[in-house]
Amino acid sequence: MKFSHYFATCLAAASTTNAFAPSFTTKVRNSKALFSSSTTEPSTYASVERYVNDHPNNNIPPHIAALVGRGLHTKEDHPIGIVRAKIQDYFNSLDEDYKIFDAEDPIVTCKQCFDDLRIEPDHPGRSPSDTYYINDETLLRTHTSAHQSMHLRDGYERFLCAGDVYRRDEIDASHYPAFHQLEGVKLFDKDQVKGADGLSKEEWLASPECKMIADDLKNVLEGLMDHLFGPVEKKWSEDFFPFTEPSFECEILYNGEWLEVLGCGVVHNEVLEMAGREDRRGWAFGLGLERLAMILFEIPDIRLFWTDDERFHKQFKAGTITKFKPYSKYPPVFKDIAFWLPEDFVENDFFELARGIAGDLVERMELTDEFTNPKTNKTSKCYRITYRSMDRSLTDEEINDLQNKLREEVVSLGVEVR
Ligand code: DAH
Repeated sequence: MKFSHYFATCLAAASTTNAFAPSFTTKVRNSKALFSSSTTEPSTYASVERYVNDHPNNNIPPHIAALVGRGLHTKEDHPIGIVRAKIQDYFNSLDEDYKIFDAEDPIVTCKQCFDDLRIEPDHPGRSPSDTYYINDETLLRTHTSAHQSMHLRDGYERFLCAGDVYRRDEIDASHYPAFHQLEGVKLFDKDQVKGADGLSKEEWLASPECKMIADDLKNVLEGLMDHLFGPVEKKWSEDFFPFTEPSFECEILYNGEWLEVLGCGVVHNEVLEMAGREDRRGWAFGLGLERLAMILFEIPDIRLFWTDDERFHKQFKAGTITKFKPYSKYPPVFKDIAFWLPEDFVENDFFELARGIAGDLVERMELTDEFTNPKTNKTSKCYRITYRSMDRSLTDEEINDLQNKLREEVVSLGVEVR
């Protein structure tokens, strides 16, 4: 099962470009706290050797390690940093004193990323086909929820934490192996939830205190959506996360389409217990910054966030949301590759191999055909790869070279190229 089915809306990125609103500009109040509370400069994390080693379980290729420490969420004039600042401004305006974190180490332990959040040992999200492992015990965080328990244990009661997260996944305009999330947590004062002491699980879920927390959560997040998008229609539905109960998903009606924008819930009591805060109750939420930025700025391809192209960067200024003006649309080149699968074929390994060879020139990888030969019982898959540069035209020759290299190297996955 895919990671995203468990981490629900999982917030990777945006949906289709036609969901975008007409061009508009919003002035954002300057975020006074944008760079506060960072204990470590994110650039400290920019060091390939921190992530790539020869441990047998290390599955981090150099092109992924090279993304760590770029700190897009701390860049004032970058769309990711602008959305992040705008969210932070909203929470500052609530006068509830949220502590801001933005520089936690992207390397976390399995305990932080999974165990402390009640994510089961056999959860598919833990699998090396979905997650980048440094070694047996440490990995690149797959969500910012990995920092919740640590901050709770340290005594923080209201905080936001933003950072880059990493997942092995499919390749298309809205999925990239690195993206950014923002997490929020709020605990309530003891006397506000006193009535809930000693309740069974069912009693707690039906209690006015649990309802009060869920209502506050929805209220705060609805305010956030209006702050980001202007007054919008919202829809709540029940969701599932191992670390919250009840859990919800929020959708907004934007340009005629319902878009999932965040996951949230009342923090599970066992999560609080493990963090030594069983005396308290509270809520948490997590959202994907790329997804929001793609909608707000009308950015059509998630790779653009990582470009160094001036034609991208000169369009954005701190505090201002403007519609992205595509500077070019270079033609795509399509190439098919078909192979017989070994028994243990991992699709994400194939996607990653292609990105390792051709980098961000790979725009999309799509399964176009699959069949099993009834006699040999062998399965064949055919993928269509879309190559396209965001800033120049590609030559036939360079794409043929890349495709040939892929055909050669894919054999290392045990496949038989057809
Ligand atoms: N960690 C979840 C994900 O990556 C998002 C999330 C959902 C965070 C609910 C939360 C939460 O704090 O309460 O998909």
